[in-house]
Amino acid sequence: MSSKEIYEIGEIPPVGQVPKYMYGQLIRAERFGEPKTAFKVEKVEVPDIKPDEALVFVMAAGINFNNVWAALGSPVNVIAARQKANFDPSDFHIGGSDASGVVYAVGSNVKNIKVGDHVVIHCGTWDANGPAVKAGEDPMFDASFKIWGYETNWGSFAQFTKVQAHQCMPKAKHLTWEEAAAPTLVGATAYRMLMGWPPHTVKNNDVVLIWGASGGLGCMAIQIVKAQGGIPVGVVGDDRKKDFCMKLGAKGVINRKQFSHWGMMPHWKDNDPYNKWAAGCRAFGKAIWEVLGERRNPRIVFEHPGEDTVPTSIFVCDSGGMVVICAGTTGYNAVADLRYLWMRQKRFQGSHFANDEQSYAFNKLVVDGRIDPCLAETFTFDQIGHCHQVMHENKAPEGKMVALVGAPKAGMKDI
Ligand SMILES: NC(=O)c1ccc[n+]([C@@H]2O[C@H](COP(=O)([O-])OP(=O)(O)OC[C@H]3O[C@@H](n4cnc5c(N)ncnc54)[C@H](OP(=O)(O)O)[C@@H]3O)[C@@H](O)[C@H]2O)c1
Repeated sequence: MSSKEIYEIGEIPPVGQVPKYMYGQLIRAERFGEPKTAFKVEKVEVPDIKPDEALVFVMAAGINFNNVWAALGSPVNVIAARQKANFDPSDFHIGGSDASGVVYAVGSNVKNIKVGDHVVIHCGTWDANGPAVKAGEDPMFDASFKIWGYETNWGSFAQFTKVQAHQCMPKAKHLTWEEAAAPTLVGATAYRMLMGWPPHTVKNNDVVLIWGASGGLGCMAIQIVKAQGGIPVGVVGDDRKKDFCMKLGAKGVINRKQFSHWGMMPHWKDNDPYNKWAAGCRAFGKAIWEVLGERRNPRIVFEHPGEDTVPTSIFVCDSGGMVVICAGTTGYNAVADLRYLWMRQKRFQGSHFANDEQSYAFNKLVVDGRIDPCLAETFTFDQIGHCHQVMHENKAPEGKMVALVGAPKAGMKDI
């Protein structure tokens, strides 16, 4: 325990000394709505940890789309959901599902990390006694699985975060705190999508179509595909984003604004609208061939916009290929022309974050310097609401936004 009750933002307590209170960016139900006003800095008690948990002093926190949803209170009120499940009675939410930081305390059962370790944190949590976990299955399939800093409280938008020890992975020494806090959530999610659903794992020369290619997920997907020897083809909504994707290794980039057939597919009995939609899909497919310089369809389509794009994704995916999806940013009604799905034997696969093995495999790519963390811009702790607002309005810069929390300034790799 520290002799000081609270430290100011940017002050670093002596390693291992935990104050009673901390500052956090809190969301409360009465503030649900636009992210710029949903977040507010408040003083709260530093949480206690259980035997398998750790307390990490947050140096920098990565910004992700999930806390846009938390701020809006939609589609799920995360505070009420936790209270209802008797999981956490707190009447506030401290979000934040990416962090770099220093371990300040560990529970009595923790073996994999110690006080003073420099870590990054993956956001997968589960109950070690959950039936699927105990049976040795993928913990992602256990009913207890939750995203830290979205479905759980005490995320990285505070000076200290409470995590399960297995979430802590080594921080890449060559990265600054803010760079290290950028890639894990989106990178590990993209890794599972691209490498976790055999036989549809990215292999040499595979074409992979990547929606939102300059966004958080997209910039990681381009690099993972490239690292596996595949051919990433990006889609963006603005020509100014193309260069960024090309520099990361995209073979070519298509501007979706050149097409207008987006959204739910018209009913197949409505001939004219359906034919117009199908013509739009064919034109989009042709744009992929133009990028490739040959008539090849993507073996994997990397999906997350959802309602606007799924019908096209299923249409352009190659025979025997896979559309893998982890979100529905534009809506949840995914309508498909099933004839293309069954006749061409395509797979439509849901995917959600990643397990320890996949998170660690992604982190190794980062530690080995094979993944650029794509830090777009570094913000202050006070600007966390602003960052989520920008994301909500689809005005985020290419790559990842990160906020400094404990790090007194940008550019530091150590303390
Ligand atoms: N299940 C999981 O584990 C998981 C993990 C990470 C993220 N997610 C979810 O995945 C989604 C994307 O996350 P992110 O971090 O990549 O967000 P992001 O950085 O904001 O990127 C999203 C991209 O989507 C594209 N987009 C927006 N509207 C579109 C439309 N109508 N059609 C096609 N593309 C559109 C945008 O690119 P252009 O405008 O340039 O096309 C934008 O760059 C979010 O909903 C997030 O919550 C889920």
